[in-house]
Amino acid sequence: MSEHEPADELSPDAPAHGHGGPHADWNPRGPRVRRDPVAAYDALRAQCPVARGPDGAWTVFSHADVMRVALDHETFSNAVSRHLQVPNGLDGPEHTAFRALVERFFTPERIAELAPAVTRVADELAATLVVPGTVDAVALGARFAVRAQSVWLGWPASLEEELLDWVAANRDATRSRDQVRTRDVALRFDAIIRALTDARRATPRADVTTELLRTRVGGRTLTDDEVVSVLRNWTGGDLGSIALCTGVVLAHLADDPRLQDRVRDGVSDRELDAIVDETLRLDDPFVSNRRVATRPVELGGRRIAAGDRVVMSWTAANRDERVFGPPERFDPVGHAPYNLVYGIGKHVCPGRPLATLELRVLVRALLRVTTAIRSAPDAARTRELPPAGGYQHVPLALT
Ligand code: HEM
Repeated sequence: MSEHEPADELSPDAPAHGHGGPHADWNPRGPRVRRDPVAAYDALRAQCPVARGPDGAWTVFSHADVMRVALDHETFSNAVSRHLQVPNGLDGPEHTAFRALVERFFTPERIAELAPAVTRVADELAATLVVPGTVDAVALGARFAVRAQSVWLGWPASLEEELLDWVAANRDATRSRDQVRTRDVALRFDAIIRALTDARRATPRADVTTELLRTRVGGRTLTDDEVVSVLRNWTGGDLGSIALCTGVVLAHLADDPRLQDRVRDGVSDRELDAIVDETLRLDDPFVSNRRVATRPVELGGRRIAAGDRVVMSWTAANRDERVFGPPERFDPVGHAPYNLVYGIGKHVCPGRPLATLELRVLVRALLRVTTAIRSAPDAARTRELPPAGGYQHVPLALT
């Protein structure tokens, strides 16, 4: 154990035989992280900013180190998985080619074109809420994300329950870290997507999924596996994250009635987007991403070997007092240039314009059908368990 090890991070269930076992600085699933993940990451950033876990992977907690890893694409490769991951698992020119393909779907023109349909989805969902009454913000966000994404990709509304069920199963599998369950959930999702793509190969439609099937990269169309991987990436990015982001944003607005009133009284889209981003910075539910070192390198005084896994903790970096001052200080405009909620570097989130649109129209729709949103008095919020972030449930009282 290193001298800056926060001792109670090592839980009794940390494997003693993993190749990082006896030298682990912390346990990402230990009792302290489970109790209060954000506080645990804050403490680690101060005490052990580059920490080795029981599986030998390094986690980087400071803003400066996370930036360094995210921006040094030569030293830190994205080839972390043996599964095809387009574009996030790719490096170099191959990544650049697929990234260009993906970005075409998120241009300002395309997002503006999509905005009325996504706004309609939000308004229709808000109209179904019982006011006065209670609602779970995370469940609401999940349903909204499935509907908005289906409208975007041209998927049938009849898939809604199956996709919601999949989001829940995916989250459970992630929490369990059970590889068999995770693989089964991935296969289930692949089957859903393959049925949709097969139908479009047989009968093309005027939708984004058909467009993706026809898109060319390097003079050829995508293979089936590549199409499934792109769609899995979009869906993974969209469905799970939007649900978690909705939980965090609405919890914050419920806790800060003055901010809620300000938004309710009318702020520009730009102001609202900055408020949402800053709220997510405080409690970033998109916790981390991985890289693998391509050569020996020193980070925060620790020697990382070639082949070691390096995890960037976006949640911790986004609360680094050296950049943001006291982490809880709310400054949407001042903090925007340093906010890492959507990542940085070549792999920065291409779906950000869509995520921003979705979160904005959902917040506006909910404020339109209510006069106040507060924490539900009789039901407690529950946090998500690592490696996911944010909340599992955010019960809200709608007036
Ligand atoms: C809802 C909130 C979202 C958050 C907080 C978020 C966050 C992120 C972050 C931090 C990365 C960087 C990953 C890395 O460096 O390894 C990323 C990448 C990515 N995101 Fe998002 N994302 C969100 C929504 C979306 C949506 C809606 C989509 C698409 C529909 C999407 C698609 C992607 C893709 C394809 C990548 C990989 C890009 C690459 O490797 O070049 N994300 N996202």
